[in-house]
Amino acid sequence: MAMAISTRATAAKAAVDVVTTFFARIQATKDDPDALDLTFGNPHEMALPGLPAALRAHAEPRSVDWFAYKSSERPAQEVVAAALSSELGLAFEPDDVAMTQGAFGAMSLAFALLADAGDEVVIPVPGWFCYEPMLHAADLVPVGAPLDPVAFDLDIDAIARAITPRTRIVVVNSPANPTGRVYPGSAWQALAEVLELASRAHGRRIWLLSDEPYRRIRFDGVDFTSPAGAYPWTLIDYSYGKVLLAPGQRLGYLALSPLIPAAEREELRAALMPIGLAIGWGFPDAVMQYSVPELEKLSLDMVELTRKRDRMYGALTEAGFEVTRPEGTFYLWGRAPGGDAVRFCTALEARGVYVMPGTLFAQPHQFRISLTATMAMIDRAVPHLVDVAAEFGRTG
Ligand SMILES: Cc1ncc(COP(=O)(O)O)c(C=O)c1O
Repeated sequence: MAMAISTRATAAKAAVDVVTTFFARIQATKDDPDALDLTFGNPHEMALPGLPAALRAHAEPRSVDWFAYKSSERPAQEVVAAALSSELGLAFEPDDVAMTQGAFGAMSLAFALLADAGDEVVIPVPGWFCYEPMLHAADLVPVGAPLDPVAFDLDIDAIARAITPRTRIVVVNSPANPTGRVYPGSAWQALAEVLELASRAHGRRIWLLSDEPYRRIRFDGVDFTSPAGAYPWTLIDYSYGKVLLAPGQRLGYLALSPLIPAAEREELRAALMPIGLAIGWGFPDAVMQYSVPELEKLSLDMVELTRKRDRMYGALTEAGFEVTRPEGTFYLWGRAPGGDAVRFCTALEARGVYVMPGTLFAQPHQFRISLTATMAMIDRAVPHLVDVAAEFGRTG
């Protein structure tokens, strides 16, 4: 008997089973007051007061069509275009912006806009664990391009090697999950050259999708440069879920680089609404769209997040861990003492401390910590991390 689910659903499920299984296990610890959950980028404190205030302010209908079908609401597009223009130094217009259900929704929209079934999409390794299942579900083929294995810099040669005549999209992510690295403008220049050459060689335009949900979460004044300024054929996806630390209230956007040549920019602009509809009405809920002017001004407490980064990074390096110093995001990426991430994470779990094994990112020697935990949780977790490292030997 044939299976009930499609081939692409089977592939998507297989690509993310390890994550969903882990997620379910972490959910099961929610009611345990002693569990120290340092896994997913979820909030562990009450929401920023400005978020419920904005939602309350817009929840009361002011017209009969307040809760009518909403595509991209013009005021939201205008706020995003203005913010993006000043942030990235490029002249975005409201028509370049499609409002979406977070970065997830924006990426789905980009895949549907640009790629045909069977097209290859280059993704970073290690990289966010949802690229692969999303690509399978869209009938696209993920092709991994390894980052530099020591500093986790972008490896432009590895991207060049991953490109084939079937490549349609290259995904980049800065600030990067899980490594916390922020890539410099020079990396984008080098990447732009590779993409331009490969597009010409294969007679088919390769698009760049810049996944930027952590764009505003950076430490120590580290500069951010978007590849949208270096390579015209770039689409940016963004999510308010990170900077508001409220990923359950879905809001984000897909933005077209204003440098896209005019004819292609027009074609894409005209497709944003119909394809947003075609992928299952991928627009954010009405109240989220009305709230964009207020939400655009809010941010999680970067001073406190920096303190947490410094506390965890300082304690782990002092204890001999090999960890990458986060320049952005709220993740800390390191090598598991003893070299076996699952063994390390299992030993921590026995002490009620939950961190993410690198196996979720196809990296069996690494682990990831989410700094969205409270400082008190971090303080309680540190001695356990240090003790388990001492048991296992510091390197491996
Ligand atoms: C790199 C990366 N891209 C996209 C997303 C999706 O963001 P959202 O859930 O806000 O849509 C995430 C979420 O963790 C992420 O880490």
